[in-house]
Amino acid sequence: MASDDYEIQIVANLDELSRRVAEEFISRTREAIQAKGFFTGVLSGGSTPKALYTLLANNRYLDQVSWSKIHVFWGDERCVPSTHPESNFRMASDSLLSKVPIPKENIHRMPAEQEDHDRAAQEYEHMLKTFFRLKTGEYPRFDLVLLGMGDDGHTASLFPGTAALKETKRLVVANYIEKLHTYRLTLTAPVINYASNIMFLISGEPKASILKEVVEGAYEPSRLPTQLIQPVEGRLIFLVDRTAASKLAKENPRTL
Ligand code: 6PG
Repeated sequence: MASDDYEIQIVANLDELSRRVAEEFISRTREAIQAKGFFTGVLSGGSTPKALYTLLANNRYLDQVSWSKIHVFWGDERCVPSTHPESNFRMASDSLLSKVPIPKENIHRMPAEQEDHDRAAQEYEHMLKTFFRLKTGEYPRFDLVLLGMGDDGHTASLFPGTAALKETKRLVVANYIEKLHTYRLTLTAPVINYASNIMFLISGEPKASILKEVVEGAYEPSRLPTQLIQPVEGRLIFLVDRTAASKLAKENPRTL
C-alpha cells in the first residue's frame, strides 16, 4: 500500500469478523450520535457483509443502536431493480433494514434500476450534496464506510482498468465493467477516502493472494483498485479472517 496508515486485524473466521465489525459499528454510531446527533454509514454489497447485517438485526445488538438516528447509504449498486436477487439494497434490506426500526427516509438507496445510469449517478450525487450540505469541490465525510474486496482487487465497483478509478471530481459515477458486461453505480475513491472510518471485511482463502499483493506488493492501483483506498484523515482497518490472511508476511507490522 502506498500509505502506511492502516491496520490489519486478523480474526479466526467470518463469525468472529462479523462480531468484531458489529461492535465497531455500534461504537461508531454512539460516537457520531454523541458528537452531532446522527450517524452516516455506507453499506457494502457482495456476500461477506450478510452475516454482519444479520447479526446487527439480532436481539443481542439490535437495542445497542439508536436506529432513529442512523442514516445508511451504499458504496455501490448493481444496475438492477431493488427487488432483484443481485441488488445490494435487497440483500441489506432482507438481512437488516427490514428488521430494525430505521426510518424509511434514513435509507438512501442508489436508484440504480434507472435506464439512464449516468442520470442515476447524478441523482445520488445530488442527494449526497444536499444531505451533507456540500459546497462545490467538497466531499461528504461519512462516519463509517464498509467495503469488501473482490479476488481481482476491486472494491465497491472500482474495478481494475475502469474509468471510475481516475475520477477525482464526481462523487458518484456509473462505471462500465467490461468483464461483467454491465454498468454499476459506485462512490468514487476520493469520497471513500474522506470518511472518518473505513473498514474492509475480507474473508476466505480465495482472497489470500490478492490481499498479499494489495498490502505487501507494489503500488499499482489501476490493477489493484483497493490500493486507492487511503483515508485523508480517517482510520483504515482491514478486518481479515485467518484464511484470507494466510499469505501475509508473518512479520507484517500492521497485524494486530
Ligand atoms: C458488490 C460489492 C463488491 C464486493 C466485493 C467482495 O457490489 O459486489 O460492492 O465490491 O464487496 O466483490 O464481494 P464478496 O463479499 O461477495 O466476496
